[in-house]
Amino acid sequence: MASRRPAVAAATVLLCATTGAAACSAPGTQGGATPEAGSTVPSGATASQTAPGPGTSQTAPGPGAPGIGDPDFPDDGNGGYDVGRYRLDLDYDPGRRHLSGTAAIEATATQGLTRFNLDLSGFTVERVTVDGARARFERTGTELTVIPARPVASRAAFTVEVAYAGRPRPVTDSSNLGTYGFIPTKDGAFVTCEPNGAKTWFPGNDHPADKARYEFQITVPEGITALANGELAAEPKTEGGKTTYLWREDHPMVTYLATMTLGKFVLREGRTASGIKNLAAADPRFRDSLDRLYTLSGKITDYWATVFGPYPFSSTGGVVDDFSTGYALENQTKPMYGGFAPDEDIIAHELAHQWFGNSLSIKRWKDLWLNEGFATYAEWLWQEHQGDATAEQSFRLHYSAGPGDAIWKYAPGRARPDDLFNNSVYTRGGMALHALRQKIGDEDFFELLRTWSSEHKYGHVTTEDFTALAEKVSGEELDALFDAWLFAEKKPTSW
Ligand code: TRP
Ligand code: ZN
Repeated sequence: MASRRPAVAAATVLLCATTGAAACSAPGTQGGATPEAGSTVPSGATASQTAPGPGTSQTAPGPGAPGIGDPDFPDDGNGGYDVGRYRLDLDYDPGRRHLSGTAAIEATATQGLTRFNLDLSGFTVERVTVDGARARFERTGTELTVIPARPVASRAAFTVEVAYAGRPRPVTDSSNLGTYGFIPTKDGAFVTCEPNGAKTWFPGNDHPADKARYEFQITVPEGITALANGELAAEPKTEGGKTTYLWREDHPMVTYLATMTLGKFVLREGRTASGIKNLAAADPRFRDSLDRLYTLSGKITDYWATVFGPYPFSSTGGVVDDFSTGYALENQTKPMYGGFAPDEDIIAHELAHQWFGNSLSIKRWKDLWLNEGFATYAEWLWQEHQGDATAEQSFRLHYSAGPGDAIWKYAPGRARPDDLFNNSVYTRGGMALHALRQKIGDEDFFELLRTWSSEHKYGHVTTEDFTALAEKVSGEELDALFDAWLFAEKKPTSW
């Protein structure tokens, strides 16, 4: 039976109340010109700005908003620009716990900008340039405000470079999310940043509404391995006791999935049966789990490709580190498992996220069930595929929770900023998908999953996008079902 929960579910208690101060301030309190405040468009589309056509005068440049416009997380991300690529050139010394380097951020202005913000937590900022010219900057909390010598024109491509250094500090201030961000370990670092911990190691637009490509040039003491997203773009080079790794993620990626996990690792590399590159890594303490991680990651990735559609990235695999978080994160191409040998359920979960969460990303946190409900349902699908519990049995097991159970009080279609990773977002989100499958039948349901992942490949999605597509694919009216399963604060009894 499906009573065994993955470590991530056990960690749900730890992970709740995500947000710290950000979520406690009222929405709409952003200062300055906030073209995106209150709206939830990604930063590529600025609601209030009229496109300057021939003969029309352009809106005067102004400050970019200090938040990207997610009302539940008003300080996260920033407005006024859209990042195309991060080029991070970073040196980490585990002995001194010291990180230093530069972040070159290639962006496009979505409005004329007299100043704009980046998110960065801690560090000393040594120098900021915009298109090579020295810029002034100010810091308040985790906002780094850049004041270019000349305003950036609307629609202009520009590069901001930030040189910075200091001791990275993960986010620990929220009461039960635990620790996330750049977490120093004894031989390196474990870097898992959902929802907003990327700012603990690089300046950027730290909200999933802005996806970008990444290049990581990482220098570490010789003998330490640096693992980042995507593929190695060059042979690691060792010189003067230090090794430099160059990793590149050429598919769009949200900030919380970026990683530069460092340490001593045993590696296994190859390809899955269908030919996808596969890289597994384990801290020597978890050496025994390496082969299993490698084999299962390959097998499960290949299976998901038959169920969800082609694998969206250039490689698969995973990393087991010895930092005991008890949880895992679906880092793009390289899920991270913190301090435990992962079992099939959690590997199936993190790899399903490569489609749901990573290729298709949410642009506001309240839609988180589109990530976690889908990944939880994938665990049930994997168990069924293995001849273990059927998805129907898993659904029934969870549905048997009494009407007073907390899961029915929390509407998974509206994840709460102070309790983002609530069990309901995972389990009731998964149940919602099974209820849908019961209603529209297997053929439409699996066609829906494949159409969903192909139509929005590498893009952004909302709950409304999903319910509309479900109605379109099935030709059925599904309001009652989605209301009961996603939005009602009581146990669904009919749908
Ligand atoms: N998304 C993770 C999962 O369900 C859980 C998670 C949330 C997490 N925040 C995190 C993991 C921070 C690591 C760090 O798989
Ligand atoms: Zn998950």
